[in-house]
Amino acid sequence: MSSIRKPLDVIPEAAEILRCGGLVAFPTETVYGLGADAENPAAVARIFAAKGRPADHPLIVHIANPGQLIRWAKDVPAAAWRLARHYWPGPLTLILHRAPRVPDIVTGGQDTVGLRIPDHPLALALLEAFGGGIAAPSANRFGRLSPTTAAHVREELGDAMDLVLDGGPCRIGIESTILDLSGQQPRLLRPGEITFAEIETVLGQPVVRPENNAPRAPGMLRSHYAPRTPVCLVSTANLEAETRQRLTQRQRIAVLSMSTTPLPGVCLREGMPTHPASWARELYARLRTLDAQFFDAILIETPPIGVGWQAVRDRLERAASAHGASGEFLPMERQPY
Ligand code: TXA
Ligand code: MG
Repeated sequence: MSSIRKPLDVIPEAAEILRCGGLVAFPTETVYGLGADAENPAAVARIFAAKGRPADHPLIVHIANPGQLIRWAKDVPAAAWRLARHYWPGPLTLILHRAPRVPDIVTGGQDTVGLRIPDHPLALALLEAFGGGIAAPSANRFGRLSPTTAAHVREELGDAMDLVLDGGPCRIGIESTILDLSGQQPRLLRPGEITFAEIETVLGQPVVRPENNAPRAPGMLRSHYAPRTPVCLVSTANLEAETRQRLTQRQRIAVLSMSTTPLPGVCLREGMPTHPASWARELYARLRTLDAQFFDAILIETPPIGVGWQAVRDRLERAASAHGASGEFLPMERQPY
């Protein structure tokens, strides 16, 4: 039986568990990760089994310092060094050509690898003590909400890991920005707290964004990046009408809203922050709590358009599209993160 353990005194034991092929869940500034020795294919296989994750979904390798980049990646471009200097430790994952030491199971057979240095004292202490790379996806079952506390990790994965390091609630609350530097131009694969606009400023060159990309091939996995309860995104203008309509259908609904528009008879209404970073920090924990209360639907007032809101809107869009709910966003076929 694994236990939730407090901070730094457990680090040597955690590193030893990794060396022995075990799994350690640990906090990062974004979300909790489920870690294994990235150079031990059997240990990495345990991650896929614990999550129920398909083998072709590659894992991010977490490293302790930028000097380790060349152990895991080859042909590292100047842009990667520049971004590493600027943002690491921090919520940015770089996709680079992989070095030979990276096992196939980590990359899903691709010729690239995702790398980042997390900005959390426990994660950094673990990486230092372990010495190698730690392959770690978010510590949730495949397609479910990412955990932002140690208790969420336990809810998601039970005893599938050997140890959970408890670092308290995650500071950022949504997953890292992912930037692909393996092609001709930098490409944003996943929006996060660090925006494409900031990256463009640091690099002094444009970043290709998902909406600029060619449409994805049909038939890809639909996102189930969501709670079990259907999520519907509703504009401020439609919030009251949507609520009324659902009440006439005798639905039990919960509403997350930034505005204070009066709403008739909803079962639960919670105010959301008006700043994107605060919204992001609370997002998964709120959805997780609401999901446990078996509402017929969770209505979420759509946050504004704007670069700062891109990551929050992206996660909400995925949560809503998993149920095919119609809201402010068109349901899209997307791979889960
Ligand atoms: O904030 C985060 O990034 C957290 C913490 C734990 O570091 N990790 C995380 O990992 O979100 P995961 O596995 O849940 O999401 C990683 C995403 C997946 O969508 C995966 O497809 C993508 O990164 N990814 C990893 N390696 C890749 C590669 N070589 N090429 C393209 N995408 C890659
Ligand atoms: Mg994930």
